Amino acid sequence: MRGPSRSCTTTASLIVSRQQGIDPAAVGRLWRRLGQRGPREGPLGTRPALLCRLGQPTLVGTAEGTGFDLMKPRRMMWLVTGAGGMLGGEMLTRLAADGHEVVGLGHAELDVTSTTAVETALRRHRPDVVVNCAAYTKVDEAEASESEAFEINALGPRNLAIACASIGGRLVHVSTDYVFAGDAVTPYDEDCEPAPRTAYGRSKLAGEQAVGELLPHRSAVVRTAWLYGERGRSFVRTLIRLERERETLDVVADQRGQPTWTVDLAGRLVDIGRRSTATGIFHVTNSGDTTCWDLAREVFRLLGADPERICPTATDRFPAIAKRPAYSVLGHRRCAEVGLAPLRDWQSALRVAFPRLLRAEETEGHQT
Ligand SMILES: NC(=O)c1ccc[n+]([C@@H]2O[C@H](COP(=O)([O-])OP(=O)(O)OC[C@H]3O[C@@H](n4cnc5c(N)ncnc54)[C@H](OP(=O)(O)O)[C@@H]3O)[C@@H](O)[C@H]2O)c1
Repeated sequence: MRGPSRSCTTTASLIVSRQQGIDPAAVGRLWRRLGQRGPREGPLGTRPALLCRLGQPTLVGTAEGTGFDLMKPRRMMWLVTGAGGMLGGEMLTRLAADGHEVVGLGHAELDVTSTTAVETALRRHRPDVVVNCAAYTKVDEAEASESEAFEINALGPRNLAIACASIGGRLVHVSTDYVFAGDAVTPYDEDCEPAPRTAYGRSKLAGEQAVGELLPHRSAVVRTAWLYGERGRSFVRTLIRLERERETLDVVADQRGQPTWTVDLAGRLVDIGRRSTATGIFHVTNSGDTTCWDLAREVFRLLGADPERICPTATDRFPAIAKRPAYSVLGHRRCAEVGLAPLRDWQSALRVAFPRLLRAEETEGHQT
């Protein structure tokens, strides 16, 4: 156990220190200043075994006896924010399938920009782990609405970090490759200097920093990229739809990244959430890398369509409001360090995902 830390400059750092058995008087004063009764004492107590899927409570199983450090001696409770989104929905599915207790809160159930609402929700549900999938993800619109993007992508995780500190919970916060400049030629290591080129990227970086500063010993920031899944909009699902509508498609061949299936990412977020030693920044993407053009050709192949219908083009032919990174490949050093094997390669993941993506496109294709 470490001694009192004079270097703790933030309120939440002090709260974390208290949870490590440090300087209770200072934390008590701090809590009184914050208008709280004081830091919670003792065990977390009993909680309802409910899966509130977007406000619809459903009884699900629990995850007892799986042998991970955070599982002992009591069962583990998860809370997912932004549960109505592409990744948030997949997280709920994954956690429920694994038999965890999980509360999923969509935007309507919990607005992460509200300090009070976040604190109330966390005190009510007392999760062991919060997975923050809530985000402002409209990359182009963020250029004109930077303050809104900051509210959701920076203030939101800040609120969650403070509330997690107050209940002794852990926070897994999802971030993005857009924190980098995108002009590298080798994979970005977790330690590479961020240099966002967009308002969205700046807001996400601010969120990462808030989490890292306020909850350093109980948080993981997971950067990912190029997501696709059964829910929501994605480049892959758009390609499936456009194959039916267009004879040929122009797709940029000068943007390189790692297509990542939300199912694989959700599994890895659970792995990280369950390891109390997994703190700091992690990059999580499917292995390998490719260009948008090659990805589109692969999607057409899987559809049984002629990949030659995908014509290579350059980014500067499609001027976007927000600059897209040319190179978004992320290295996976930190996962390896905590004993997590690389996710499967992107082609294998896409092949397995494909029947599900097709089904989703058939039933709700109008949404993409
Ligand atoms: N999609 C990608 O390719 C990609 C790539 C890299 C990183 N990421 C990161 O991955 C995470 C998940 O992204 P996603 O693709 O699942 O995004 P998404 O589908 O847009 O989901 C985000 C969810 O957050 C909700 N939300 C927005 N404002 C909120 C608020 N104030 N409080 C609570 N919820 C709020 C949204 O609800 P409404 O729709 O009702 O506003 C939406 O359901 C994000 O952190 C994103 O930055 C995504």
